[in-house]
Amino acid sequence: MTLLVTGGAGFIGSNFVLDWLKSSDEPIVTLDALTYAGNLENLASLQGDARHTFVKGDICERALVDQLLSQHRPRALIHFAAESHVDRSISGPGAFMRTNIEGTYTLLEASRAYWSGLGDVDKAAWRFHHVSTDEVYGSLSEQDPPFAETKTYEPNSPYSASKAASDHLVRAWHHTYGLPVLTTNCSNNYGPYHFPEKLIPLMIVNALAGKALPIYGDGKNVRDWLFVSDHASAIRAVLQGGRVGETYNIGGWNEMSNLEIVHTVCELLDELRPDAAGSYKRLITFVKDRPGHDRRYAIDARKIERELGWRPAETFATGIRKTVQWYLDHPEWVVRVQSGAYRDWVAQQYQA
Ligand code: NAD
Ligand code: DAU
Repeated sequence: MTLLVTGGAGFIGSNFVLDWLKSSDEPIVTLDALTYAGNLENLASLQGDARHTFVKGDICERALVDQLLSQHRPRALIHFAAESHVDRSISGPGAFMRTNIEGTYTLLEASRAYWSGLGDVDKAAWRFHHVSTDEVYGSLSEQDPPFAETKTYEPNSPYSASKAASDHLVRAWHHTYGLPVLTTNCSNNYGPYHFPEKLIPLMIVNALAGKALPIYGDGKNVRDWLFVSDHASAIRAVLQGGRVGETYNIGGWNEMSNLEIVHTVCELLDELRPDAAGSYKRLITFVKDRPGHDRRYAIDARKIERELGWRPAETFATGIRKTVQWYLDHPEWVVRVQSGAYRDWVAQQYQA
């Protein structure tokens, strides 16, 4: 048995692959185009591990996906690959439409062709697991209940609209063709290997460099935060026991404003790496708001708990401490990401 994982060199995908191979000998084939967000160094500990095969390639390339499916005959495809950063989707939406919509469509069609040719037992066991986001549901006011799986889709950014489109495609391929799909919609992740364009890693690396900590608008936008290995364990639970055609919301029961997040990061750094110039909070700087900035996300994760017994293992206090410590312990990873040197390694590896 094998899993085909798309986007496995990115933040969540690499954490998923590493976690999977810690507890299972079932091999993984990772397909990743290594865009700016893909970092093969995240998977460096798997070099020479026969359980892991890395393939550099684009999910929009049908022939490549067909070839991987027929060569490796996976029992499931776990689809992480995406353009994932909201700010980039605002300045350049094209790549999001291509990867998130056309890429998902390509994977669905290739999967359908492969799955149609399987025998009855393998066909029933096969899964297309689509990894999606809570942003498809839109924005909540302070009083609104958290997002349940029944919440209408109201995406507000080019990123969330492209993810919503991909969710609809996945749903339609199940409804029309019977493809055995699972969809998970998760809240904001944080943890090791998080690219420092996103809030938490950006605040850590900027603070350590003595740079401004940019807070959009009034800093009161609220997100639900989940430690990344809890997302990986939720995906494992859904893959194993999720009902085909269903969606499961995944969250940390941990709503916090951006300002609270940044204060927590600064307080941990004050404790773990005190700066003679004073608290890192002095670097907090309010900047222009993100256009169309969603005010609040919150997840009702009762369905996955009720049906599959999943709950997050980390609290925010434990997860954020591990995260800050990871960045302090891996300065070379940060330097190579910031300088772009992580991409040279790929160029050497692939003579690209
Ligand atoms: P990421 O940007 O860190 O990684 C994305 C990966 O996909 C990269 O390795 C990149 O090289 C690869 N990729 C991009 N375009 C590709 C293409 N055309 N073909 C093949 N590979 C391609 O993203 P992430 O934060 O790890 O998110 C992974 C998934 O989880 C995404 O689908 C995202 O929408 C979803 N998600 C993310 C979060 C979060 O907080 N980061 C929360 C919920 C859901
Ligand atoms: O909710 C899940 C989503 O979480 C995922 O689907 C996305 O892929 C992921 O990028 C994330 O989206 P957000 O837009 O919530 O994450 P980001 O880290 O970009 O921003 C978190 C909050 O912090 C948001 O309210 C914007 C704010 N922010 C962000 C940055 C980068 C700042 O105030 N300053 C910043 O510099």
